[in-house]
Amino acid sequence: MSSDAITIFDTTLRDGEQSPGCSMTTDEKLEVAKALVELGVDVIEAGFPIASPGDFEAVKRIAQEFGSRTTICGLARSKIDDIQRAGEALKHAEKARMHVFLATSSIHREHKLKMSKDQIVQTAVEMVKRAHDLIPNIEFSPEDAARTELDFLCEVVEKAIDAGATTINIPDTVGYATPDQFFNVIRHLKQNVPNIGKAVLSTHCHNDLGLAVANSLAGVEAGARQIECTINGLGERAGNAALEEIVMALRTRGDHYKVHTNINTPKLFPTSRLISRITGMQVQRNKAIVGQNAFAHEAGIHQHGMLQNRSTYEIMRPEDVGYVGTNLVLGKHSGRHAFRDRVKHLGFELTDELFQKIFDEFIALADKKKDVFDSDIVALIENHTGESTDEWQLLNFHTLAGTNVLPTATVEMKRNGSDEVIREASTGDGPIDAIFCALERVVQVSATLRDYHVKSVSSGKDAQGEVSVEISIDDHNYHGKGLSTDVVAASAQAYLKALNRALADRKANAK
Ligand code: KIV
Ligand code: ZN
Repeated sequence: MSSDAITIFDTTLRDGEQSPGCSMTTDEKLEVAKALVELGVDVIEAGFPIASPGDFEAVKRIAQEFGSRTTICGLARSKIDDIQRAGEALKHAEKARMHVFLATSSIHREHKLKMSKDQIVQTAVEMVKRAHDLIPNIEFSPEDAARTELDFLCEVVEKAIDAGATTINIPDTVGYATPDQFFNVIRHLKQNVPNIGKAVLSTHCHNDLGLAVANSLAGVEAGARQIECTINGLGERAGNAALEEIVMALRTRGDHYKVHTNINTPKLFPTSRLISRITGMQVQRNKAIVGQNAFAHEAGIHQHGMLQNRSTYEIMRPEDVGYVGTNLVLGKHSGRHAFRDRVKHLGFELTDELFQKIFDEFIALADKKKDVFDSDIVALIENHTGESTDEWQLLNFHTLAGTNVLPTATVEMKRNGSDEVIREASTGDGPIDAIFCALERVVQVSATLRDYHVKSVSSGKDAQGEVSVEISIDDHNYHGKGLSTDVVAASAQAYLKALNRALADRKANAK
């Protein structure tokens, strides 16, 4: 690999999925892995196989399906059982990597591991060797490296490389580093570890102080050639370095960084939306690169400048990141052809069957609402993804509510693979609560509603409403989204989606 190529290591499916409420089903993980392959990431960290049967299954299936196109990585603590389990999950990938970690900072050594420096070195060496016996491509991370004494860090890194590690990842586990300090850690390792030339140095920065991207870029300037990051900056606590920000900073400021990545940047926006839909984690409107306002110019003086020459106020073109705005696009007379072109332009490839379904919904929507925007079309399409694997489907519902009446709801539902229609009814505090209770009765799961949001997809009183819910069942959180011009219908879809996710999770972890 040339010295100006940066390896993009995506950990959305591991560190990202670890953040509360962001858990994904195996099918969703496969959908994310496919999107990451198409985005062009070099390494996908698909999960932590020992963590649960569901995690193991997901890593194994991703390794089987995508392991010939992209390197698939599985995480393991420095423990024999972890390493064996990761080796088992990864064995079908043509390009497999195992990521072994062990904390090295004095705080972690003394309070968490209760191990001496010598024991840390010995364990790291032994476990890297064990992992290397199973998979030749080994990454080693000294956890909390950014708070580790530099001389000890050099010792661990040198021994891990001697034991077979070919990537050395430097985590700022608690997001404590500053760009200057992180630069110095990487530079110190480059200058003081005698065998450092045999390994690629990598960054893994958390965002507790909002410095994850800045620290990762400082690492690149000091000589790191792999960056670990996540879509939308998902991850433990305040998250990890955001992939889209890293990639666009390196590309837009190529004059400064003089490195490149393999990322297919027009896929950044669609991938960000996919992750947001699947994890239920909303992207803030003013988020760099993928926020809805990232390319919106409101101020008159800016608009005037843009009309004269876009470069007055624009450092990246929206199309370079696949940005979808709220352009007014089509009306009900636009026809199939124009609709198909628009769908293609938005970056979707649909089967004929799904295209017909979405086209019918588009016509129905155009009948109900005056203006149909790009964002409406994207929302209609995204609303259908993943539905074929849902265990329960809502066929019809009816609600009754008003002043001085007891709110009630009835639902008609069907289980995947069966034609039997099941009906249930319930009362509630309001029509939405009543419908949630009726859904729970059919599915026979009782959940606690933790969060409920409704937002409009585009503008106007007749806009489609997108409802997001988060529920909790047995200490696990699940989310769901629903879409309709009727918020009761959108709420029912969102709640059922979350219940379906909980059922899929139970099934995956019962194996
Ligand atoms: O933040 C961290 O230290 C990690 C390690 C497992 C690499 O995620
Ligand atoms: Zn991490």
